[in-house]
Amino acid sequence: MPSILETFEALHATSKSMAARAATVFPSGVTHDARAFEPFPIYVERAEGGRKWDVDGNEIVDYIGGHGALLLGHNRPEVIEAVHGALARGTHFGSSHDLEIAWGEQVLKMVPCAERVRFTSSGTEATMMALRLARAYTGRERVVKLADHFHGWHDVVVGRLGPDDARPHSIGVPEGFYDALTIVPQGDVPALEEALSGRDVAAVILEPTGAHWGTEPLPASYLQDLRRLTEEAGTVMVMDEVITGFRMAPGGAQERYGVTPDLSTHAKILAGGLPGGCVTGRADIVSMLEMREGDPDWNSKRRVSHQGTFNANPASAAAGLTALGIIEDGTPVRRADATASAIVGALNALFAEESVPGSAWAVSSMWHFNLGYDAPVPAEVEWDAAEPPRGVADGLMRPLRWALFNHGVDLMGNGGMVSSAHGDAEVADTVAGFRAAIGDLRADGLLS
Ligand SMILES: Cc1ncc(COP(=O)(O)O)c(C=O)c1O
Repeated sequence: MPSILETFEALHATSKSMAARAATVFPSGVTHDARAFEPFPIYVERAEGGRKWDVDGNEIVDYIGGHGALLLGHNRPEVIEAVHGALARGTHFGSSHDLEIAWGEQVLKMVPCAERVRFTSSGTEATMMALRLARAYTGRERVVKLADHFHGWHDVVVGRLGPDDARPHSIGVPEGFYDALTIVPQGDVPALEEALSGRDVAAVILEPTGAHWGTEPLPASYLQDLRRLTEEAGTVMVMDEVITGFRMAPGGAQERYGVTPDLSTHAKILAGGLPGGCVTGRADIVSMLEMREGDPDWNSKRRVSHQGTFNANPASAAAGLTALGIIEDGTPVRRADATASAIVGALNALFAEESVPGSAWAVSSMWHFNLGYDAPVPAEVEWDAAEPPRGVADGLMRPLRWALFNHGVDLMGNGGMVSSAHGDAEVADTVAGFRAAIGDLRADGLLS
């Protein structure tokens, strides 16, 4: 019987040859670190709803969902139609246009903290702008970030993973950047209190779910503590809602948890599956971007400048406006959440039935799992154990992903992003895929 890897190679021969070509073009053959995969990544030809089809004709239940951008699934007809309509009028006017106003108004309507908004072209640009605004507004330089929280790849936020980590996470960042960066462990209120005690911190930025969209869950009470402590310290609270915005509720994590930050950053779902991001929040902070007629001192020395060729381009504006309009009544959020809960319930039942050490949990429509160690099983859907989850045991992740690909399931990290286009059929295929993958791992001697 062929091994998991032999089957993976046999089922993905066209992908293998495309990867060989790509290896001569791109570093590691890919265009995003998260897409690198050994022995080669799969190449996708088309996608629809909660599924995609690779170049070898394999059908795959997709849990990457455009890196989280596709709460409505692939090719939601209204969104595609709106993009076609915008493209017919022109891809870029180099001028202001009607769609950007409507898109901005929609953000102000849906996001609790939003009094003003400025669009960017990505989430990385949004978090970069939010921190710059906070520095300009407070006149302070220091930024506090939580260990392992991800905010894109610009200089400040890639610096150091954990509080005790002297090494940069990404080489190439000037050493001096770390002077103004403090990293605190997530969930540790005294450490946060200590970091803010000097009243020299411009901003605290965090993922409201805990690091990596809830891979390391964070109790909601921490958000309340953070809100209180930042207010007391005169520090700008930046909720990075690049993933959670318009997913955890129409108004994002801030609506779901009832904690209103000073600024929030958005991307992904914001632009309906096309490129785009934004910073939104308090008018007095976002207005650090405004130009003041007759005030050259403000304009040249005190305001934050901002450019970006593709900010609020018509196609992204049309896609975003249409997607947010569909999400506004909460139906897609509720449907995706319910599907994620069904996946969690079904996987926990499967692990128990197969006597596999592991467990699944979810935050809203983002599910995760542990495998290869005796993990606590949550009573409901969200992680409720005192200790943090450990994820997938070393050495198991890669063969598991090969096996899941062989059975038509693509994960994002140790779990997935569910869309409102996923339903019963996708849940059933996912559970069947896991059942078969468990059998394959056992046959290869990788799981007892
Ligand atoms: C929480 C968070 N912030 C920021 C970013 C960066 O966004 P982008 O990839 O659009 O630059 C990401 C991307 O995954 C993210 O998950």
